[in-house]
This record gives sequence, C-alpha cells and structure tokens, in this order.
Amino acid sequence: MELFSNKHLQSHEYIREEMSALLRGLYESSNTNILLKDHFSTVSLNVISIMVLGKKYTDESKDAIVSPDEFKKLLDELFLLSEVLNIGDFSPWLDFLDLQGYIKRMKALSKKLDRFLEHVLDEHIENKKAKGFVATDIVDVLLQLADDPDLVVKLEGHGIKGFTQDLIAGGTESSAVTVEWAISELLRKPEIFRKATEELDRVIGRERWVEERDIVHLPFIDAIAKETMRLHPVAPLLVPRLAREDCQVAGYNIPKGNRVLVSVWTIGRHPNLWDNPNEFCPERFIGKDIDVNGQDFELLPFGSGRRMCPGYSLGIKVIQSSLANILHGFTWRLLGNMKKEDLSMEENFGLSTPRKFPLVAVTESRLPPYLYSQ
Ligand code: HEM
Repeated sequence: MELFSNKHLQSHEYIREEMSALLRGLYESSNTNILLKDHFSTVSLNVISIMVLGKKYTDESKDAIVSPDEFKKLLDELFLLSEVLNIGDFSPWLDFLDLQGYIKRMKALSKKLDRFLEHVLDEHIENKKAKGFVATDIVDVLLQLADDPDLVVKLEGHGIKGFTQDLIAGGTESSAVTVEWAISELLRKPEIFRKATEELDRVIGRERWVEERDIVHLPFIDAIAKETMRLHPVAPLLVPRLAREDCQVAGYNIPKGNRVLVSVWTIGRHPNLWDNPNEFCPERFIGKDIDVNGQDFELLPFGSGRRMCPGYSLGIKVIQSSLANILHGFTWRLLGNMKKEDLSMEENFGLSTPRKFPLVAVTESRLPPYLYSQ
C-alpha cells in the first residue's frame, strides 16, 4: 500500500485523459457493433502503464519495445498459463514430457516479459541518476525501496520485475471485466439503465462529463458498481491463504499449515446474506453502509487484510468514473433483434471470471457532439 501513497501517483490526472480517449473512441464507433472489452482494455492498460511504468511503453512508434497488440497478447498468454492445469504437476513422473506444451510456452513467455521488464528497469535506473530526480511512478518507488538498507526483506532486481509484472497483470483486466459485466447486466434491465441516466441528468446535466469529485453525489452509480462486483467478483477465490495456527471457522476445523480458499463468489450469492441473491438489484445498496474496502465481509471484491488488492483505490476510481461516463455519454442496445433474455451471462470460471462470450453492443451518443472531441 505504501507504494501507492506517493503524491504523484495520487493525482490520477492521467485517468481523465485516458477516459477522454475511450469516450472519443466509442463516439467514433457509434451505431456500429462494438466489442466493449477491446475499447476498455486499452484504457486500463494505458492507465496502469502510466502509473506503474511512468509512460505507455506500448505505443505504435517504430522504436517502441513492444506494440500494444503484442503486449496484450503477452498478457493474454500470462493469464491463460497462470490458470492451466499442467499434467506434470499432478504426475511428476510425466513432467519431463511436457505433454501439453505449457512449460515450453511458459519459458518462451518468461523470456519475452523479462526482456520488456529489463528494458523498463534500465530506463528507470538511468533516469534516477539525473540531478533533482523525483519518483513519479511505481518502478521509481520500488527502486528507491531497493536502496533502503533498513528494509527487512531486501528488494532486488528480480523482485522489482516480479512485482511490476503482478501490478500490470492485476490491474489491466480487472476493471475492464467489471465494467463489461455492469453493462451486460444493465442491458438486461432497461429500467435500471433508465434510473442511472436519470440520476446522471439530474446531478451532472447534459453539458459536461462526470468528474471524479462527482462520484459521491451519484449513489445509484455507486450501487450499480457494488452490485456488479457482488455478482461478478473479478477474483472469485481471492489469493490463497495459509492457516498459521489451528483454528475453527463456522464450526469447521482448519489445521495449521492448510491452504484456505475464500470464495467471495459464493459469499456474494449466499441466500443467508442477500435477498434474491441471483437478482441484479443495485437498490439493495441504497442507504446501506456496505463498502468494498475489505471491512464488510459480505462484499469483498478487493479481498481483505494484508493481501488485499493494493490497487483498490485506483481500481474503484476507474470503475466508477468509466461506468458513470459511458452511461452518461451513450445509450446502449443489443445487436439487431436480439432480446435481452438471449444475452448470455455465462462466466469463464478460473483465476478471474470474465464473460464467456465478450459483450458486443451498439452505442448512440446522448450529449452534444462538441463534448466528444474534448
Ligand atoms: C476492478 C479493479 C480490481 C479488482 C476487483 C481487484 C481485485 C483483487 C483481489 C480480489 C485481489 C486478491 C485480494 C485478496 O486475496 O485479499 C487482488 C490482488 C491484487 N491486485 Fe487487484 N483488483 C483490481 C484492480 C487492481 C489494480 C488497478 C492493480 C494494480 C495497480 C491491482 C493489483 C493487484 C495485485 C498486485 C494483487 C496481488 C496482491 C498480493 O498478492 O499481495 N489490482 N486484486
């Protein structure tokens, strides 16, 4: 968490710029079939890159170390290989055969990612030599920590690269997946869509975009974000925990040394905790004091405790402001004659739970045209 407390990182100015690019992109694709995830993951990748690496390393220029498409492919491969079941892990005597070819792919991926991260680190080390240097991104902060002689666990080059990779992987897909689920749920519930745009028209009006400071005045948008994360938590089983001592939870004995998985997916749909648990109903959060900050155990989309998501404050900001703006700026509909009941809500259950079939929808602008070119 200390990494995110740097004052440069807190400004979040760059989120606004990336958001404008997203809204412009959606406007240019009005009345065509759009794959929301494609538009959105570029924005999250850019936001995370600027915050963690200091700039978008993935530009289209000739001398860029990696193109945006290549980088996204690397991340897709990283996600896929992180959740595969490798036969050799269950039958070690077969491991050397690498029957599914996963080990070969992991080694190839690791080489490519390492080349990229080495390049990032070299650049940052070079910049750090400049007079009057100030840390402005997370790699800078990590390099400063590495110089700290009082650090109990010494941070070295491979640790910095590993942590940087975790931040990019953890931060890129998560908000895109959540916003895609939110729009999918809303497309099936036009009356909730209407309520959301009524709130936006009343609080913001039609002459400007939603800004970060407006969010506290948009309780219904906040409720939609929470309700989406209740039904579709990005990390359904959180990060595995190890019991450090024998204990009892809800009458079950958990011996010391056991690995424990917490299913926030199940908690979010538990009938003892929620009325009509499978129903998408943001109203359930209105006037309730339930937050996603890890203190209210019935709703833990960012986890809780010492391993809670370190990108929590950035993640929630990106979700709320992008959701508010894409609802404010556009009406959304399904393709052609597709009925709302026909929209698949199947999940791809794994380390994360994205939609099984990416959402394709059609947008139409609802604000004056000049706002989209700002
Ligand atoms: C929609 C936004 C996000 C959601 C829902 C989310 C959710 C989570 C969850 C549930 C965990 C596991 C926490 C636990 O087990 O208690 C986690 C871990 C993590 N998240 Fe996020 N996250 C989001 C955004 C981000 C962002 C923006 C970043 C980076 C800037 C990030 C980086 C990480 C990292 C590095 C971990 C692993 C922490 C560890 O193992 O100690 N996440 N996230």
